[in-house]
Amino acid sequence: MPETSNLSGQHILLGISGGIAAYKTPILVRRLVEAGASVQVVMTANAHQFVTATSLQAVSGNPVRDDLWDAAAEAAMGHIELARWADQILIAPATASMIARLATGEASDLLSTLCLASPAPVSVAPAMNQQMYQHPAVQRNLASLEADGYRIIGPDSGDQACGDQGPGRMTEPEDLLSALAQHPLSGDDAGSLTGCTVMVTTGPTREAIDPVRYISNHSSGLQGLAIAESARRAGATVILIAGPGVPSAHWQIERRDVTTAQEMYEEVHNSLPAADIFIGVAAVADYRPANSEAQKIKRHRHADSDMKLALVENPDIIASVVQSGQVKVVVGFAAETNDTLNNAREKRARKGLDAIVVNDVSDRSIGFNSTNNAVTLIHEHGEVAFGTQPKTVIADQLIRELTPIFTAKTAQKL
Ligand SMILES: Cc1cc2nc3c(=O)[nH]c(=O)nc-3n(C[C@H](O)[C@H](O)[C@H](O)COP(=O)(O)O)c2cc1C
Repeated sequence: MPETSNLSGQHILLGISGGIAAYKTPILVRRLVEAGASVQVVMTANAHQFVTATSLQAVSGNPVRDDLWDAAAEAAMGHIELARWADQILIAPATASMIARLATGEASDLLSTLCLASPAPVSVAPAMNQQMYQHPAVQRNLASLEADGYRIIGPDSGDQACGDQGPGRMTEPEDLLSALAQHPLSGDDAGSLTGCTVMVTTGPTREAIDPVRYISNHSSGLQGLAIAESARRAGATVILIAGPGVPSAHWQIERRDVTTAQEMYEEVHNSLPAADIFIGVAAVADYRPANSEAQKIKRHRHADSDMKLALVENPDIIASVVQSGQVKVVVGFAAETNDTLNNAREKRARKGLDAIVVNDVSDRSIGFNSTNNAVTLIHEHGEVAFGTQPKTVIADQLIRELTPIFTAKTAQKL
């Protein structure tokens, strides 16, 4: 069972748009009410094709809203009042169409209007056919939402109602509950890092072999992006140093884009005097080609022998941050394929890190290139494992768990 006790007493506004997964929403409402939350449901016109307002009213104990122009509902609780009532908004399922409306800032129906009018954090649980989900327009819209501070939960991957297999299944109600319960702005965490500057590195680096080829890795940068976003929501000033291909970040996050490990090293050290906390999530290449050729290497030059690539070591960014003594807390990440915990414990000790977060990248369904992750946080006071969950939820949990360490070590600043 997910830990949901901090949902007790919360006002949750559940928005339901017109996707097949809407049939799961009465169970979701039931679980929220069981966890002690007050729930108001807002449906789009198309959601009525998939679930009845009668069921949702029965389980929530509140009338269901679906129309901006409902005079009686407006008289009872105006839509701006409803927007202010919410401690959190969850849109589940979020259709491709709803995601597009939110991404463009439309206020063309009650639900999209509420999202613009509410100061509450909005979580979005996409649910759609895998082909739709992977369409660049949907991905672009989701990236815009993330950059605007929306939290994206899921989707899961697997069998779909249409018979397809792949990403696009709505995150299950229990996991949605657990995600809402973990939201840093839902409890006492909002503002817990106010006054503190956190630097996060994320993504891969690329080390050029010649003008068209490079050495890199599978890192998507999503975990570091989510950590930067969680730190921002906890009130920190955030500097994000991002490798290539990392999706856009919230406008309040100070972002610097780099390509190589050497560039990342330089950007980190340029900005380090402003930082209190350093979280190194980036998958920095340990080695780079000794010589990056100015011209594309031609196959015929090596036709009669195997080609050998000489590599030289890149700077160890995290070790250099520890050695500089310029920040008060240093958190590292380790991606391991074997003997995961022992390797991470050894790495934390060897590098003198305050904490290390380790994930087992031999499981390809999580970690690299996935929206889910499962990690263990190792710090001087103990170890905490976080099971498979969306990276955004893991990020919230890590920030919450690390905050006492941040606060203790940066006491004079916070
Ligand atoms: C049977 C059926 C199932 C559908 N399921 C989904 C879905 O799971 N996800 C989605 O994005 N759209 C789905 N659609 C399309 C949406 O219902 C359609 O885009 C609609 O305009 C969404 O409106 P709304 O976002 O205002 O609720 C489905 C349509 C039909 C006919």
